[in-house]
Amino acid sequence: MTDATQLHADQIAYWNGPGGAHWVAQQAHTDTQLAPVTEALLAAAAPARGQRVLDIGCGCGTTTLHVADAVGAEGHVTGLDVSGPMLGWARQRGGERENLAWVLADAAAHAFPPGGFDLLMSRFGVMFFGNPPAAFANLRAGLRPGGRLVFACWRPFEENTWMRVPLHAAYQHIPRLPKPGPEDPGPFAFADPERVTRILTGAGWSAPSFTPVDVMLDIAAGGGLDLAVEQATHIGAASRALREAPEETRPAAIAAIREALVPYRDGMSVRLPGAIWIVSATNG
Ligand SMILES: C[S@@+](CC[C@H](N)C(=O)[O-])C[C@H]1O[C@@H](n2cnc3c(N)ncnc32)[C@H](O)[C@@H]1O
Repeated sequence: MTDATQLHADQIAYWNGPGGAHWVAQQAHTDTQLAPVTEALLAAAAPARGQRVLDIGCGCGTTTLHVADAVGAEGHVTGLDVSGPMLGWARQRGGERENLAWVLADAAAHAFPPGGFDLLMSRFGVMFFGNPPAAFANLRAGLRPGGRLVFACWRPFEENTWMRVPLHAAYQHIPRLPKPGPEDPGPFAFADPERVTRILTGAGWSAPSFTPVDVMLDIAAGGGLDLAVEQATHIGAASRALREAPEETRPAAIAAIREALVPYRDGMSVRLPGAIWIVSATNG
């Protein structure tokens, strides 16, 4: 197996294992936390009535359901994801809606109907491919000429206070995670516009535009400090570091996360800055 193939396989295993389980368990909380991101993404993607839309890496289906409302009965949305548990939950949430399909597949390899979509979109679902140029070439084949790709991805880790504060607090007690390589998949893999431009144009897309959006993320989702700590220890960089840390070091790390979040408490909310790109490109 090449490095890229192995990294890709590792991601698929992760999203079908601990990653998927946490995202299903935390779905309602995460969606409340990410509401400002969803709003910015939907405003930029602007799915219109009658359009055929693909939601890449749709996870538990929240953005897919929003798009289903926007395109209406004369349109259609496909939520595609490689995670069985997450897509299973999305399917249940979608119920009997007729303008909606769920596909359990690898976006990098799935044979899309050629030109079958008007719009490809994603909330944080496109940064996990082992070979991104090949994946984005495969996705482009599913989009009609002139159709658009619009996705949200994180700007650099240092700008994402909501991830940095808990992780640095935890690092007082647990070992540091190895730094990912510049081409490795992961949440911050698309932080650098130059890299994303190289990937997309190499896959035949137009030069993308990058709109920075600053958001305040309530990591407590209105549920108070304890819930914020729980969320920080289940999703994001600190959760990964904790998972790999020796058991006996975790309580001190969690206590440090709690202390570091206290200054951000505002009633039942715990709001920290987040930084995303909204990336748009066209097929041809
Ligand atoms: C950070 S989660 C975001 C999920 C969802 N879009 C959301 O915002 O709630 C990343 C998603 O990308 C999916 N994913 C990762 N690699 C994928 C691939 N090769 N093909 C399809 N989905 C993939 C994961 O299973 C996961 O659901």
